[in-house]
Amino acid sequence: MYLHWLMFFLASTGWVSDASHCNYTEYAAVKNKLFTHLGLDKNDFQITRMWPLIFLPHLAIIYVDLYVTSIIEVNEKDQSLTTQVKIITAWPNSNMQWDKSSFCEMETFVAPKNMFWTPDIGIIESIKTDFGTKESPYVRLIHIGYIASSDILALTTACRMDLYRFPFDSHTCNITLQSTAHSSQEITIITFSDAEWVTIESKKTFHTQGEWELISINVTKSFAKIIGLIEMDQLIYQITIKRRPLLYVINIIIPVFVFLVLDVMSFFIDGRGTDKLSFKVTLLLSISVFLLILNDTLPSTAEKLPLIGIYCSGIFILIGISILETILVNFLKAKGAEKISVETTATVTGQDDSVRDLQSPPDSVTDQNEEQSCTFDLLKQILTECCATIQQNQQEKISLCWTRVARIINVTFLVLYIFTITMFLSVLRKLWLYM
Ligand SMILES: *[C@@H]1O[C@H](CO)[C@@H](O)[C@H](O)[C@H]1NC(C)=O
Ligand SMILES: *[C@@H]1O[C@H](CO)[C@@H](O)[C@H](O)[C@H]1NC(C)=O
Ligand SMILES: *[C@@H]1O[C@H](CO)[C@@H](O)[C@H](O)[C@H]1NC(C)=O
Repeated sequence: MYLHWLMFFLASTGWVSDASHCNYTEYAAVKNKLFTHLGLDKNDFQITRMWPLIFLPHLAIIYVDLYVTSIIEVNEKDQSLTTQVKIITAWPNSNMQWDKSSFCEMETFVAPKNMFWTPDIGIIESIKTDFGTKESPYVRLIHIGYIASSDILALTTACRMDLYRFPFDSHTCNITLQSTAHSSQEITIITFSDAEWVTIESKKTFHTQGEWELISINVTKSFAKIIGLIEMDQLIYQITIKRRPLLYVINIIIPVFVFLVLDVMSFFIDGRGTDKLSFKVTLLLSISVFLLILNDTLPSTAEKLPLIGIYCSGIFILIGISILETILVNFLKAKGAEKISVETTATVTGQDDSVRDLQSPPDSVTDQNEEQSCTFDLLKQILTECCATIQQNQQEKISLCWTRVARIINVTFLVLYIFTITMFLSVLRKLWLYM
């Protein structure tokens, strides 16, 4: 029954409870009286500082509420999460009770923190804990025998992040609260509010609108064994955050995809092959810039390569292969062109010699009279011209053959290339978005 009241009291952000049942002078007098009543003026070390652990017959129940008010930084390379959290802690101190009717209806009372025992709750994953504002030197006493304090902390906690689906990733980071000295026989840590309330309140008070969105906060209780003997009570807050991927989609995924489309379209560039080649090499260089950016963002985890790395380097390799193909086709085309030019010059200058050489053996055998030789010469000339045209046709055929091979390779490659790209992208999309 107290618990609900306490919960309501502490969850409401206003800590005001001081009554207006008395005028100012009375109120000041009552405060003084209460201070004496609680024995705080004596500065008795046992009553104040060590309570409740010495005198409490059962274990002390410590109530904790943790609200995430900002996500300041998520460092993927260091695998750490920096958040601003508000922690409200309340613990029993049955010595600090009073009947509010005899004290001006005063329900709460602020006293210096160093007069009291405070629970030594630490955060296991913490790399660095700072007070977001000043550490409050005060605690608040509540008339039912509880003491409460509220702190705003800037927490940097270690968080294991799996970046496989970057930038469509979400992470669950644990914030484990555990006493540093007291075992579970002495204190137990319990959450005030349920996870749903904590999530709603955290979202309501969320200060930042950055890359990360707070999805949910779950709370579980657990135990940890220290040196295999002492059991420590734990309260684990699991904070689930999700990345807003739009920036990365616009800055990395779409540009790299456009490069790939440009690469496919470059098959239709007309003109000399070297233009095409330099165009493609430019695309390759542009992608390597994105690879550098990714290298700065992503950690080098050995387990699973992030899909975005596979995406970028996959496209890099695809464009690389298409460059190799362009070089091959250029080579074949050049060979064809070379054949044509060589053969045309050959047919212009050396046709007579070659033909004469071919025809000389029968020539020397059947050389008897001039008339015959005259007609023979004529025939020979016709023959050589015939031969030359046939030969030229043959050479042209060969060079055409090279060009045709080049064209066939080009078209086959284009079809295969588009097919591979489609397969690659659809598999990636499946892994990326619907896992
Ligand atoms: C405060 O209230 C008390 C009794 O109710 C009265 O005696 C006293 O004069 C009041 N003081 C002032 C400053 O009003
Ligand atoms: C976070 O806490 C949950 C619940 O106890 C646990 O199952 C999980 O392993 C913890 N995660 C890490 C990284 O410690
Ligand atoms: C947290 O709780 C919500 C709802 O209760 C649940 O859907 C979600 O899976 C939980 N998350 C984790 C990490 O346990």
